[in-house]
Amino acid sequence: MYSFASDYLEGAHPRVLAALVESNAVQTPGYSLDEYTQKAIEVMKKEIGREDIDIHLLVGGTQTNLIMISSILKPYQAAIACDTGHINTHETGSIEATGHKVVTCPHHDGKVTLEGLQAILDQHSDEHWVMPKLVYLSQTTELGTIYTKAELTAISQFCRAHDLYLYVDGARLASALAQKENDVTLHDLATLCDAFYIGATKCGALFGEGLVLVHDDLKRDFRFNIKQKGALLAKGRLLGIQFYELFKDGLYYEVGRHSNDMADILREGLDKYHVSYLAPSLSNQVFPILEDRMIKEIQTSFVVTVMDKIDETHHAIRLVTSFMTPKQACLDFVKKLDDLLG
Ligand SMILES: Cc1ncc(COP(=O)(O)O)c(C=O)c1O
Repeated sequence: MYSFASDYLEGAHPRVLAALVESNAVQTPGYSLDEYTQKAIEVMKKEIGREDIDIHLLVGGTQTNLIMISSILKPYQAAIACDTGHINTHETGSIEATGHKVVTCPHHDGKVTLEGLQAILDQHSDEHWVMPKLVYLSQTTELGTIYTKAELTAISQFCRAHDLYLYVDGARLASALAQKENDVTLHDLATLCDAFYIGATKCGALFGEGLVLVHDDLKRDFRFNIKQKGALLAKGRLLGIQFYELFKDGLYYEVGRHSNDMADILREGLDKYHVSYLAPSLSNQVFPILEDRMIKEIQTSFVVTVMDKIDETHHAIRLVTSFMTPKQACLDFVKKLDDLLG
C-alpha cells in the first residue's frame, strides 16, 4: 500500500546516499569542525548570497526550533505563532518546557497575519503579561501554503517596528522555493528574517536542518547552546556531506520540484471533480475535502492522514509527496479517484 502520509518516509536521495558511502572511510575531526561541513557552509552562503551569516547544521526540526528559540528569549519573553504553527501543535510543548510561552493568533490559510500580531501586542501591554519577542512562522506552512514576498516583507517590517525577532521554520523549504508561484528566495529570507532554517530531513537528506543566523544577537556563543541541548553531533560530518551534496549544484531545488510535480498530479486528478480544499496549497502537501465513505475507499489502497472534520459526512485529508514519490503512485491515486467518482 503506497503511503502519502508524509515526506520523511524514505531514506535519502540516491546522490546524498552515494556521497555518504563515498566518504565513509575518511577520517575527520568531530563536532562539525570537518572539511565537509566547511564546504557545505561555503556553498550554502554562496546560494544565500551573504557572507555575514552563521550557519549551524543540526539534526531535526523540533531540535532546531527549540535551540534557536530558547537561546534568544529572556525568561519572561514569549514566541508568537499562529494556532496551526508547528511549535504550537506538534512539538510536545518543547518551547514551553524551557519556560517560554507560545502565544497564538488565528491563522489565515496556515499563515500568521498582521492583524493577529497586532492583537497580541495590544493585549500584552505590560509586565503582567509575558513579553512577545519572537515571531515564528513556517515556509511552507502547515497547510502547504507559502508566504509571498510582499506578505513576508510586511511581517518583517512589523517585527522590526515592534522590536520582535522574525524566525522562519523551513522544514519544507525546498518545496516552497520550487513552487511555481514562489517569489521568495533564500537571499530574501536572509534579508527579511533574523533567522531561518533550511530543512533537509523532508527535502532529500537522511536527516538535517541548516540553521541560518542573520541577526548578530543570535550568533554569539551559539555552539554552546547547541552542545548544552545535546545537539552537537560528534559525527557532524554526516550533516556536512549531505548539505554539500544538496547545495553544490542545485539538487535541493530539484528535490523540491519533484515533490511539487508529484503533488500537481494529485491536484489535477482532484480538480477534475471540483473537489474543494482545506487551504490553497500548491506545494507538496494537498488537503482535499472528501466524503467519508470515499476516504474509506481510498484507504483500502493508500495511506492518507485524516485531518479536520468539515461536517457530518466530510473530512479533509492530507496527502504528502516526497523527493522520492514515484509518478506511478500518483497516477494510481488518480485512477482510484476516477474509479470512485468518474
Ligand atoms: C514545519 C515543521 N517544523 C518542524 C518539524 C519537526 O521536525 P522533527 O520531526 O524532525 O522534529 C516538522 C515535522 O513534521 C514540521 O513539519
